[in-house]
Amino acid sequence: MTKRLLALGAVVLTTVALAWAGAESQPKAGGAPKPVIQKAVKGEQCVEPTDYMRRNHMVLLNQHRDRTVIEGVRTKKYSLKECINCHASEKTGSVAAAKEDFCVSCHSYAAVKIDCFDCHSTKPQGSMAMHPLNAETAHYKHKLAAQSARPVSAEEMARVANE
Ligand code: HEC
Ligand code: HEC
Ligand code: HEC
Repeated sequence: MTKRLLALGAVVLTTVALAWAGAESQPKAGGAPKPVIQKAVKGEQCVEPTDYMRRNHMVLLNQHRDRTVIEGVRTKKYSLKECINCHASEKTGSVAAAKEDFCVSCHSYAAVKIDCFDCHSTKPQGSMAMHPLNAETAHYKHKLAAQSARPVSAEEMARVANE
């Protein structure tokens, strides 16, 4: 009798342990659903290999921004406009309008916040949407933003735009 109970107990324990292990393998990041990364609408491949892009797109963007804004060297390859041309969703026409859109899906999963679209258009047809900013001020602030160790918050940028 005790042996049977023990055996039953073991079965129950194993089941609980397995269910627990199952729960552990659920997506992390506070149960947020894994990002579904939308396919690019244009182009056979990215400007660099996909795996490289996944890890280093922010570095490329920063470097390109500095080359353009600070050094005044304008090239197309790593331009933010080009990213948006290929990656804007067919549904919203944007890289960051809906939560499934290309730049947003991963970022919300990884809890990354970017302020780029406070100024830059998220749509290919949009202009740079440079609103009230005078280019010189924006470039200077941009340089400061690029230099600061931590990302500049949207709030700070909003203040910058009003100065
Ligand atoms: C010529 C079109 C084109 C341009 C321009 C382009 N991409 Fe891509 N990108 C692609 C394609 C195609 C892939 C491969 C995955 C796919 O088919 O969507 C990709 C993949 C990626 C990935 C990895 C996605 C994943 O599945 O993990 C990131 C991140 C990315 N691109 C960011 C950028 C950024 C940032 C820029 C601008 C500097 C940019 N791309 C410019 C077409 C493009
Ligand atoms: C305060 C407004 C502002 C914010 C915020 C901002 N930018 Fe810019 N950005 C500009 C202006 C102004 C230019 C210059 C436009 C030009 O001369 O073409 C520019 C140019 C660029 C360029 C070079 C031009 C191009 O089409 O590629 C890149 C790359 C760029 N920004 C990336 C970024 C990224 C990435 C972020 C977010 C981390 C960001 N910017 C946030 C204002 C801003
Ligand atoms: C495959 C997932 C993925 C996609 C798609 C993606 N990102 Fe990212 N991005 C990340 C991750 C993850 C980080 C944070 C990396 C880190 O902190 O080491 C990041 C960081 C960034 C940063 C730096 C933010 C900071 O605080 O320093 C910028 C700028 C950026 N992404 C721009 C973009 C733009 C613009 C797009 C759309 C064209 C895009 N990303 C698409 C995953 C992605």
